[in-house]
Amino acid sequence: MANQIKKFNSKERTTIECIQSPDEMQNHSKTLRAAGETVALVPTMGYFHEGHLSLMHKGRAQCSRVAVSIFVNPTQFGPNEDFKTYPRDLTRDLNLAREAGVDIVFTPRAEDMYPAGFQTEISLQRLPKHLCGLSRPTHFAGVATVVTKLLNIVQPHCAIFGRKDYQQLTVIRQMVSDLNMDVTIIDAPTVREADGLAMSSRNTGLSAGQRHSALCLYQALLHARNMASGGVSDSGEIIAAAREIITAAPETEIDYIAVVDPQTLDDMSQLVGPARMALAVQVGGVRLIDNMLLTP
Ligand code: PAJ
Repeated sequence: MANQIKKFNSKERTTIECIQSPDEMQNHSKTLRAAGETVALVPTMGYFHEGHLSLMHKGRAQCSRVAVSIFVNPTQFGPNEDFKTYPRDLTRDLNLAREAGVDIVFTPRAEDMYPAGFQTEISLQRLPKHLCGLSRPTHFAGVATVVTKLLNIVQPHCAIFGRKDYQQLTVIRQMVSDLNMDVTIIDAPTVREADGLAMSSRNTGLSAGQRHSALCLYQALLHARNMASGGVSDSGEIIAAAREIITAAPETEIDYIAVVDPQTLDDMSQLVGPARMALAVQVGGVRLIDNMLLTP
């Protein structure tokens, strides 16, 4: 039986279902579908911010039921990455999900997602060989595999992903198309802090000084967008200007800055059409990513 969690601070909904077992989640979803309900899934690793909540609101607008998964997926973290220190706060997340009108929170345990003997992986041939995939070579196989599992378990009609993780979005769209998966992928714009920093669960790891430095990602992207719309078509020139802005900010170390084709993620040396500028920067010890559309 699904575990009913009682409301204690929301005016909108009385209960939210919290389900831990993948089998229970799948059966519950089948029952909902059989009853004619439509289901939206928002996959997350928790520690919610306004970006996550915007996806939940989008799900609410699309379907009669919204499910959110919270699972810090070990297989998408490299050996020296922040799996152990990734922020977690389930009680806070459940409250925020309830307030956002979520019906079901799915919180599987790692041992149920990857039981002894687990041996299947979904990996894409080309999209992961760009951008974040270059320094995180196993990351997107981890993401593609866990998202496939979540889609198979929750069986949603639609699943919502943020453009903040642009490469992830392209990987999921490609996988869903390649494998004829029966789900509609919906994307949602990046939600930013008042000063422009893209919201991220990892922002909590920044000191006050680093938080100030982190703004350089957005400033570099804005500058690039203005250069592109102002007629600069040489990507090298745009990337150099962005690099200058980021290196001027204290405690920053650039992983990559790239201007890429929005579908293939191949480098675009000239802005012959719309492009995505994407960047990854370590600020202090925290790895931040962001991206923006450049229109010539
Ligand atoms: P997580 O980083 O928790 O992000 C969950 C979803 O929120 C993703 O679709 C992400 O793009 C979106 N998101 C994050 N920050 C956002 C922002 N500022 N504005 C809008 N959307 C934002 O991405 C993952 O988890 C995982 O890789 C996951 C897909 C759950 C697989 O484990």
